[in-house]
Amino acid sequence: MKILAVSGSPRIEKRSSTLKLVKMVAENTGCAYDLVSLAGKKIHGCIGCMGCADDNICKLKDDLTPLRDKIVEADAYILGGCNFFSTLNASMHSFLERWYQFRHREQNELWGKPAVTVSVGGVQTEPVAKILEQFCMYNFIQVVDRVEGFGAAGCFYCGYGETCKVGAIHAVHGDGFKITEDNTPCVSKDAACMEKASQTGKNLGKILKDGHDRSKAAQEVRESLMARRGFKKEG
Ligand SMILES: Cc1cc2nc3c(=O)[nH]c(=O)nc-3n(C[C@H](O)[C@H](O)[C@H](O)COP(=O)(O)O)c2cc1C
Repeated sequence: MKILAVSGSPRIEKRSSTLKLVKMVAENTGCAYDLVSLAGKKIHGCIGCMGCADDNICKLKDDLTPLRDKIVEADAYILGGCNFFSTLNASMHSFLERWYQFRHREQNELWGKPAVTVSVGGVQTEPVAKILEQFCMYNFIQVVDRVEGFGAAGCFYCGYGETCKVGAIHAVHGDGFKITEDNTPCVSKDAACMEKASQTGKNLGKILKDGHDRSKAAQEVRESLMARRGFKKEG
């Protein structure tokens, strides 16, 4: 059993709460895993050229290209993204847009695989969790659990956070706030969040070891997607 764990944060490891949570989930699965950080990777969004319609292989060549095999070979996914402007950050969005290559006709390389979503925000995680789940649904991937946590707004690192009147620190804490290592948010300081990530990893490992029925899962996701879109159930 092999898991593909992806952190979509563009930040370096030390500063990324998404990467820390994704890693925590992966480490606790008890399965082999590939941990991929999109930080520093150049992955273009889908350009809708339909070059993948014939063979389900994206014709854009960039840092997504060598990851295609890992996506196909994985038995499960841990997909982490962060909140930029109340939506999924662009690096992760581009990465997942390119999974369009797997959507054509009866191509079923991803169908029914289990996934855990990891969503991180400065103040809000829900929009990211929802978008990650939607991407999974479009590929008939079954989201079995989600982990959500809060990281540090860029204002904690930019050098002007204490004095800037339009940044997140002023909005939340007002005038006179002093940034310290202790009050800089990070998921690793949130014991409940890290515990949830650890437990979610264990559960994902158990799902895989117990024998996950991909056909059944794919059918369930498909029905749920159809219902959301307002289509009638077949038969
Ligand atoms: C460009 C940018 C926009 C952001 N917009 C939001 C936002 O709209 N809502 C929010 O809750 N957090 C926002 N944040 C805060 C990030 O979600 C937060 O820094 C998070 O910890 C980033 O994930 P990371 O720690 O894995 O890099 C923003 C951060 C950046 C850099």
